Amino acid sequence: MILLVHGDREYLRAPGGELHTDLGIVDIPEDVEPGQVLESHLGDEFVVREPRGPDLFNHFERTGAPMMPRDVGLVVGHTGAAMGDRVLDAGTGTGVLSAYLGRLGAEVTTYERDAEFADVARENMELAGVADRVDVRTGDVTDHLEELSGFDLLTLDTENAPEVVERAPDLLVSGGFVAVYSPFVENSRASVEAAREAELTDIETFETIQRQMDFGERGSRPSTAGVGHTAYLTFARYE
Ligand SMILES: C[S@@+](CC[C@H](N)C(=O)[O-])C[C@H]1O[C@@H](n2cnc3c(N)ncnc32)[C@H](O)[C@@H]1O
Repeated sequence: MILLVHGDREYLRAPGGELHTDLGIVDIPEDVEPGQVLESHLGDEFVVREPRGPDLFNHFERTGAPMMPRDVGLVVGHTGAAMGDRVLDAGTGTGVLSAYLGRLGAEVTTYERDAEFADVARENMELAGVADRVDVRTGDVTDHLEELSGFDLLTLDTENAPEVVERAPDLLVSGGFVAVYSPFVENSRASVEAAREAELTDIETFETIQRQMDFGERGSRPSTAGVGHTAYLTFARYE
């Protein structure tokens, strides 16, 4: 897949296809390359870009509320997620976190209990070019824990995350991490208690707040638009 960019408009399309907009029809060659400029039959220009993580966040078909890129950054930074890691993720939702991890070179097994959401996530993994590294499985992750082991990282974005955290010692290799993304602090607390019960170490919870800066003519200050809070992130480690 490639992105065709014209000003603030972006279109995700397959090489070899066509783009139809009010700016005309663009023929997209099979061998299209990032950086190329394609012209529509009305003479408007579209720059070709290879989609990266933030583009996928913007263009994936959405089901469950996707993880924000800044929170993905914290998960990667705090756990050191890297190429070759085995990751167990749940729930898949839109698949933003899975796709980012797949693009890093991790091997991701991700569970989504809603069959329709799982189908959308599989299509999103195709779009992201990571379908060979991200295995989207339909089912409740807690029904499959017995058959799972050997992971470097567990990434959990479900209400019942604490039930999975309790089982972390059976799921993780030594030195592996758990990351729990919780919209509500009560869920973080339950995850922390589960991590303590499982005798995990390095247990930490952070609230994610990010302030965008506005650089206006009159001066510079944090943006007054929107709320900076997204979620709570709990991390813990096995031995
Ligand atoms: C908030 S979304 C996850 C978003 C995802 N982290 C992303 O970056 O796009 C939560 C998803 O988890 C699924 N889910 C909830 N509990 C689950 C469970 N126990 N096993 C599998 N999937 C579950 C829900 O159906 C929902 O689609």
